[in-house]
Amino acid sequence: MPTTWITVCDTCKREDWDEARNTRPHGEDMAELVETAARDRNLRTRRVSCLMGCSHGCNVAIQADGKLAYTLGGFAPEAEAAQAIVDYAEMHAESETGRVPFRQWPQGVKGHFVTRHPPLPDDGEG
Ligand code: FES
Repeated sequence: MPTTWITVCDTCKREDWDEARNTRPHGEDMAELVETAARDRNLRTRRVSCLMGCSHGCNVAIQADGKLAYTLGGFAPEAEAAQAIVDYAEMHAESETGRVPFRQWPQGVKGHFVTRHPPLPDDGEG
């Protein structure tokens, strides 16, 4: 089975981000929470700066080679959200196609899906 990756935007700032209160972008908080929640799971994580969903942070992408890929956004950088993202990613990892039946979705990811990308067709090369 291909590895499912969680890509976290570490530069997202939500509307309530405030220079006086926040020492770093919300995305860094979220990345740390996701990395903690994904520890000891059969998943990989990485950070990128900007997934082009800046108006609805925090944003993450869930991807695995040959499977449906998703971006999700609008998350507050909280442990509960990170846990839901990781739980969902684990189901994505276990599924054949990347499609996780709606009835199995963790409550915390509902309403956060932004895009879905079908896997590229096999072009017969390589
Ligand atoms: S800064 Fe996070 S999507 Fe652009």
